[in-house]
Amino acid sequence: MDNPEKEWFGETPVTPDEKTKKVLGVFHNVASKYDIMNDFMSGGLHRVWKDRLIRMIRPRKDYKYLDIAGGTGDIAFRIRKATSPKTQITVSDINESMLSVGRDRAFDRGYIDGLEWVTGNAEDLPLPDNSYDVYTIAFGLRNVTHIDNALKEAVRILKPGGRFFCLEFSHVKDPMLAKIYDTYSYNVIPKIGELVAKDGDSYQYLVESIRKFPKPLELEERMKDAGFVRTKSTPLTFGVVCIHEGTVE
Ligand SMILES: C[S@@+](CC[C@H](N)C(=O)[O-])C[C@H]1O[C@@H](n2cnc3c(N)ncnc32)[C@H](O)[C@@H]1O
Repeated sequence: MDNPEKEWFGETPVTPDEKTKKVLGVFHNVASKYDIMNDFMSGGLHRVWKDRLIRMIRPRKDYKYLDIAGGTGDIAFRIRKATSPKTQITVSDINESMLSVGRDRAFDRGYIDGLEWVTGNAEDLPLPDNSYDVYTIAFGLRNVTHIDNALKEAVRILKPGGRFFCLEFSHVKDPMLAKIYDTYSYNVIPKIGELVAKDGDSYQYLVESIRKFPKPLELEERMKDAGFVRTKSTPLTFGVVCIHEGTVE
């Protein structure tokens, strides 16, 4: 099918507007089961990857943090744990349902001060220029309709010297492992989604969207085009995920 605007909802060609709306629908549907599904699908590995991201950030208490596509708060809570209740952390997401679960989880942990929750699209955020030291986006960039707009927005919001970290599903290089991974993701993940979240389609989207995400070197090029320097990609777990880094000069 001809798709001049060339956006994809998983493997289905859609217009940019349709993609944004469909992604909103996916996370609205899964919000209440999102955290438990992460554990089921990854066998708990998402926790290891998120912990690794935090170690790479080496959080300092006096920095200002922005967690985009922050969803139910996993990254913000880890930064908070590694810093202090006074550290300023903004959690932003386009989806109010995900943020609402996040706020409840923050309350349960007693995380009241220091955390700010902002509804917004990563492509056009209601946040000032040059205002954060660290920008994180975990398993979020893949879902954004125009990745390049989100990267430019990150450059705008970060202070000079500010650092960008993107944790995202990536591409398994080894052909044998890639086959096993494909079999698992196409056959098992949508079934787990059906059983646990009663929503196989949303998890089918997840699997398909991973394959559409740029490979590390392509993403690094796009990060440089957006204005980042000193870009670096660190694959984890045979390339199942990758941490992409960049700095604003
Ligand atoms: C897979 S979840 C990741 C949540 C959290 N960062 C984590 O690692 O558990 C993806 C999140 O991206 C958000 N998202 C999708 N498109 C977005 C956009 N354009 N701007 C901001 N957030 C977006 C979704 O609402 C969802 O909460």
